[in-house]
Amino acid sequence: MSTRRFSAAVGGVAVILVLSACGTGGSVVGKSADQTNGRKIFQTTCAGCHILAAAGSQGTFGPNLDAAFAEARSEGYKESAILDIIHDQIKFPGQYPVRTNDPDFLKANMPANLVTGQDAIDVAAYVAANAGVQGFAQAAAVSGTNGKQIFLTKCGGCHTLKAAGTTGTTGPNLDLLSPPFPRVKKQVINGGSIMPAFKGVLNDAQINAVAKYVADHAGK
Ligand code: HEC
Ligand code: HEC
Repeated sequence: MSTRRFSAAVGGVAVILVLSACGTGGSVVGKSADQTNGRKIFQTTCAGCHILAAAGSQGTFGPNLDAAFAEARSEGYKESAILDIIHDQIKFPGQYPVRTNDPDFLKANMPANLVTGQDAIDVAAYVAANAGVQGFAQAAAVSGTNGKQIFLTKCGGCHTLKAAGTTGTTGPNLDLLSPPFPRVKKQVINGGSIMPAFKGVLNDAQINAVAKYVADHAGK
């Protein structure tokens, strides 16, 4: 059993949410899941209350799922753990305090068993595969100028780099690309069509540190 606290904004209000995989609902890791069906279910049943970039949903009644799980991923949570957290949440929501007359608290809990059986597994698998993947970069703030630490927090979710032990596949494999320092620095400052720009997110010293770390270690 593992329990971690994450903060997430609900309706613009910061609350502390507890993500727990206690196995209360039984693990569904390894069960077959149809993510195409999961995406359909998300659109019809969950999107109204939750932001999820991959689904283009904008609901703010419940927590932003990208923010919640980007933080979980940055803490090293595996997709399998996230899958069980989401599946449990569908069966046993309402682990968070509700105070209808306090703006700092949730107004209501998520209704239990919105979907059940294979549909619950499918939608949990879809959310686990997507939540926080694109929002990874924005979610966790870094302090300090340790290039490896910055890489792990801001870049590794999307990029494979053997020296850092990361296996992200949204962006190019940096070991294969082996980019020189100026190229990395330019990319980090400006971003790309998918990659976020880090100007303003990281300071100049941090940008230099992470660019140097990548240039020194890629392909080694
Ligand atoms: C009526 C609005 C509503 C709907 C519909 C809804 N949720 Fe939620 N969801 C919430 C609220 C409110 C919370 C936080 C409080 C709680 O657990 O009750 C929450 C919490 C969550 C969490 C935990 C996030 C965290 O940061 O701890 C997950 C995961 C989640 N919902 C997934 C889903 C999925 C998947 C669906 C569709 C099957 C769904 N939700 C449908 C309102 C909703
Ligand atoms: C959300 C995913 C994501 C994150 C986070 C991310 N990248 Fe990228 N990166 C990409 C993608 C996708 C590309 C390919 C270009 C594009 O479309 O953005 C890319 C391209 C690159 C390139 C190649 C540029 C070139 O000239 O071809 C480098 C170097 C790079 N990223 C480094 C980094 C570093 C360093 C960080 C962290 C500060 C980072 N990336 C964070 C997704 C990401």
